[in-house]
Order: sequence, then C-alpha cells, then structure tokens
Amino acid sequence: MSHYYDEEQDGSLREQTVAFSVLGRRFSAVTGSGVFSKGGLDNATRVLVESCSLRGTEECLDLGCGWGAVGLVLKEAHPDISLVMSDVNTRAVRLARKNVPGADVRLSNGFSNVPESFDMILTNPPYAAGREVCYRLIEESFGHLRPRGRFLLVVRYRKGGKMLEQKIKDVFGDVEVLKKSGGFRVYQGVR
Ligand SMILES: C[S@@+](CC[C@H](N)C(=O)[O-])C[C@H]1O[C@@H](n2cnc3c(N)ncnc32)[C@H](O)[C@@H]1O
Repeated sequence: MSHYYDEEQDGSLREQTVAFSVLGRRFSAVTGSGVFSKGGLDNATRVLVESCSLRGTEECLDLGCGWGAVGLVLKEAHPDISLVMSDVNTRAVRLARKNVPGADVRLSNGFSNVPESFDMILTNPPYAAGREVCYRLIEESFGHLRPRGRFLLVVRYRKGGKMLEQKIKDVFGDVEVLKKSGGFRVYQGVR
C-alpha cells in the first residue's frame, strides 16, 4: 500500500474540491486521494502560514508542498514573492500545479531537483515518513538558505516536536519558537 510520502500512488486519482479560510481570505483548491490532508487545510499547516511574515519580494521554497496549501496562501497574501514548490509525490506535484498557477512546482526528493538557495524555506515535514527523512530535510535546507535566510517548520509538539526542535538547534546553532497553537509549534532556524 502506498503512502502520501511515496513517489507513486496506488489506484487512480479521485479529485475533490475543498474550500477553507485563513488569514482573512477564502480559498478553494483541488485535492485528491493519495496526497496529504486531502480533506482540506491541515491544522498544522494553518498554524505555519499564520506565523509566517514576509517582506514582499523574497524567494521562498514550500518544501514538501503536497497539494499546495502553503504556496497557495503565501502567493495570495504576498503576490510579489518568488515561489518554488517541491514534493516527492507525483500526484501532489500535479495538484499543486493546478492550485498555484504560475508557481514553479517540481518533483524532487529533498533538494534533488532544487539546486538554488532561498530567503525562506517553509515545511510541514512528512513526520510519518520517519525521523531520518525529517532530519535530512532540515540538514539540506540549511545548505539551501542564503545568509540570514529563515527555515520554518511546524510540528505537533507531542509527536516529535522536541526532537525536531533539537535537530534545528544542532544544524542552525539556535532555534526559536515562533508560534504555539493547538498543540503545534512553529520553529525557526536562521542561517
Ligand atoms: C505533512 S505533508 C505537508 C504537505 C503540505 N505542505 C501541507 O502542509 O498540506 C509532507 C509532504 O512532504 C512530502 N515529502 C515526503 N518526503 C519528501 C521528500 N523526501 N522530499 C520532498 N517532499 C517529501 C510528502 O509527499 C508530503 O506531501
């Protein structure tokens, strides 16, 4: 049986349209079977986008974009940002391309297809894929940030939060809690 964090998914794609509100705006998006949170905006993702402040023209990476929730919301709130979105799941990449027209959406395992550096990298990491995958995404993100570039990661505190907080601290030298809400924490590491 395939998982949402696999490259290919079993069965055919059953698409559905979801609607949600966040940051005072209403959104609709196409999701589908075999991708993370197909029923709508995930609670952790909501906390992540609510905690993200951008200065306008920054270059951002939505790492592990799924059907594109983070990129969709960020691009609407900050139309001038330049946005790359990436995911290892082929189906997620197809849906993200539909949901965020004009964004540069890439099929990529970690940074395998994302060579450049960014001002900000945001991720709701694939915790279900295991600690080692999350650790690797944190390590690789450090190498793909410009000086003073920011890495934002959301996680449920009781489900790996402490572990990922420590990993960000080890890799970035320091870690800040940007937001605590509903059992989730958004951690920031600055290069
Ligand atoms: C928890 S989901 C978050 C999806 C989306 N950002 C959201 O918030 O709704 C994590 C995403 O990371 C992707 N992923 C898993 N392993 C990955 C890897 N090695 N490289 C890139 N993306 C990966 C999964 O396919 C999944 O879409």
